[in-house]
Amino acid sequence: AAEQDLAGRHVVVSAGGTREPLDPVRYLGNRSSGKQGYALARTAVARGARVTLVAGNTELPDPAGVDVIRVGTARQLHEAVLKAAAEADAVVMAAAVADFRPAVYTTGKIKKIDGQEPEPVTLVRNPDILAELSAERARPGQVVVGFAAETDDVLANGRAKLARKGCDLLVVNEVGEHKAFGSAGNEAVILAADGTETPVPYGPKEDLADTVWDLVAPRLADTDR
Ligand code: PMT
Repeated sequence: AAEQDLAGRHVVVSAGGTREPLDPVRYLGNRSSGKQGYALARTAVARGARVTLVAGNTELPDPAGVDVIRVGTARQLHEAVLKAAAEADAVVMAAAVADFRPAVYTTGKIKKIDGQEPEPVTLVRNPDILAELSAERARPGQVVVGFAAETDDVLANGRAKLARKGCDLLVVNEVGEHKAFGSAGNEAVILAADGTETPVPYGPKEDLADTVWDLVAPRLADTDR
């Protein structure tokens, strides 16, 4: 059994992608499967934590021993994560949250009309949950962890994102065919606000998840449990 270094702790993990509806049958979404977030939830349970998993769109079954809250849109994820975070020692945002949503939700299915060009889709910003969690810690000493999925200038973009979001740790993963979105495996560099950088070689998503908890555990507030 894994070391029980998260015993008595409550952690919140978000997983999966959000879906931002355009009309009753269409949405803007992304390729997140939920696997990385679910691996974080399972490994936290194995290390003794009480786990709340806020899951966006995923086909994965609920992991054993985890309190699962299912959501659809970024705004629903925002509400559920903030509520759960109020009593958490750590929050890990592995979900792929849509930065933008369609400005208008059309209540009837959008129709194709002969001889007419389609209406352009206007997007508006969604709340930045990670930035908000980092700026307004729900508890003193709460550890906030973000992910960054990057396609180019991976580390430079990751370092800039860590500074911008204000979290304690940022797990930077490069989007690729056999890593990040949808795959069973992943590799990453975990950047810490104190400047340390921990490379995690390619392996199962559980291995990356365990390394995240290895870095979270010593940063947790030394409170009564
Ligand atoms: O689900 P899998 O198929 O296993 O894939 C895993 C993953 C690739 C989705 C995961 O490892 C990952 O990288 N998750 C974050 C993906 C992402 O949307 O990254 P980002 O760089 O756009 O966002 C940065 C961080 O801010 C993330 O922690 C994200 O959860 C958070 N965010 C983003 C937008 C927003 N409006 N609010 C947020 O909190």
